[in-house]
Amino acid sequence: MSAHHMMGIQAPTDKELTTLLVYLQRYAQIPLNKATAKELDTPAGRAFSETCSQCHALPDPAQHIAADWPGVVLRMKHNMVALGKPAPAPSTLDAIEAYLQKYAKPSGKGGA
Ligand code: HEC
Repeated sequence: MSAHHMMGIQAPTDKELTTLLVYLQRYAQIPLNKATAKELDTPAGRAFSETCSQCHALPDPAQHIAADWPGVVLRMKHNMVALGKPAPAPSTLDAIEAYLQKYAKPSGKGGA
């Protein structure tokens, strides 16, 4: 048995990669300015701010057009499962999605 000195570097585990993504996300995320945000103090707004600030800054709905939000929300649901966070009820996710789409970036020319 010879020592494999050059083989001591291991690929990061999935958990390490996820941690890294969360770290990167803190800086890539466009945070919502709570001072100018609308309807945060409604059932949908509260569901959004409680659910979507667990891992990173509360995202600004205007960073995506409405058509892009369902895919992002679905990915976040997977992130929640991967990171061991409770996945919200489907009705809660629907309310969050509706909130995000209401304040999404206007689509059309120059959008997305
Ligand atoms: C369990 C932790 C977790 C929760 C809760 C979470 N996110 Fe994320 N979010 C991440 C991670 C990890 C990334 C970076 C990897 C990625 O984009 O999937 C990310 C990235 C993002 C991004 C930037 C990438 C992009 O596609 O624009 C947005 C926007 C975002 N999240 C929105 C949300 C919204 C909206 C919610 C609430 C429904 C939410 N997040 C809840 C973990 C989370």
